[in-house]
Amino acid sequence: MSKTSLPTKLEIVEGLMQTPPAISPKYFYDARGSALFEQITRLTEYYPTRIEREIMATHAAAIAANVGTGCTLIEPGAGNCEKAKILCELIAPACFVAVDISEEFLHQSVKELRLALPTIDIRAVAGDLNREIALPADLPRQQRLLYYPGSSIGNFDPAQALALLSRMRGLLDDDGALLIGVDLLKDLAVLDAAYNDAAGVTAAFNLNLLQHVNQLTGSDFDVAQWRHLAFFNSTESRIEMHLVAATDTLVRWPGGGRSFVRGERIHTENSYKYRVEDFVALLSRAGFPRTQVWTDERGWFAVMLARP
Ligand SMILES: C[S@@+](CC[C@H](N)C(=O)[O-])C[C@H]1O[C@@H](n2cnc3c(N)ncnc32)[C@H](O)[C@@H]1O
Repeated sequence: MSKTSLPTKLEIVEGLMQTPPAISPKYFYDARGSALFEQITRLTEYYPTRIEREIMATHAAAIAANVGTGCTLIEPGAGNCEKAKILCELIAPACFVAVDISEEFLHQSVKELRLALPTIDIRAVAGDLNREIALPADLPRQQRLLYYPGSSIGNFDPAQALALLSRMRGLLDDDGALLIGVDLLKDLAVLDAAYNDAAGVTAAFNLNLLQHVNQLTGSDFDVAQWRHLAFFNSTESRIEMHLVAATDTLVRWPGGGRSFVRGERIHTENSYKYRVEDFVALLSRAGFPRTQVWTDERGWFAVMLARP
């Protein structure tokens, strides 16, 4: 707890005190949260990882031909680097930079990747994408490929997504590109099941946030008093995840605290679902006017290669 920076504590406490209360999804990812997310990606109900992998495999030749070899590959939110490994094998970058907020997990993932891909210069950068993406100073600016798979962009509302994509554009010269995975609008039952899996892994992932917040801020959330809730908000075109108080409860942290009444929610995540044309338009506004799009047969997920 003592290692947590003051801005982090303030950000979390501010979120807890606002109406309605919210905690940023970036705090899902302590070591346990990262491991739970890895389990989520293997669930039958969680289609995004599986379908994105299928799209990448089906269109591997076209993607490789468009990207070329020898680039500097950068993945913000690299997680277990599993997808980066497949892409590295496909496009043979000169260098790969994995960026993630979950520091311990990142270093372990990068260690394993270095063993698997000994000819590639692989770097780990611990950092928060919401603040600044501080890349190594000696990294070449030419021929950069940003890789942002898994529809992580869906965690940002459209205005924040535009800001993040614009910041990404700022990391590239005109010869750079962004390869991005985008989850698409689809049947509501499919969406609901993906965030309410039968084994309860998504629930455990959501609830683990409270443990992480306890560790970061010194708060005393009793996880047993909270329940997982996920549903599709069709007005906003997003899955929402919340934690719901099962009883009236008081939560304290150093210097403060607040009470929650039974049924009160803490908003923990949004996952926006796009139409292809809307996301292409967003990319264009962010400075990527040229986009190639690959989707699966059912149009559930899209992989887009966007260029300045
Ligand atoms: C949904 S996972 C995706 C992992 C991997 N890219 C994939 O597609 O399977 C999101 C990843 O982004 C990281 N992350 C979330 N918020 C972040 C932030 N604000 N800054 C940096 N990394 C973040 C998490 O630690 C996690 O590894």
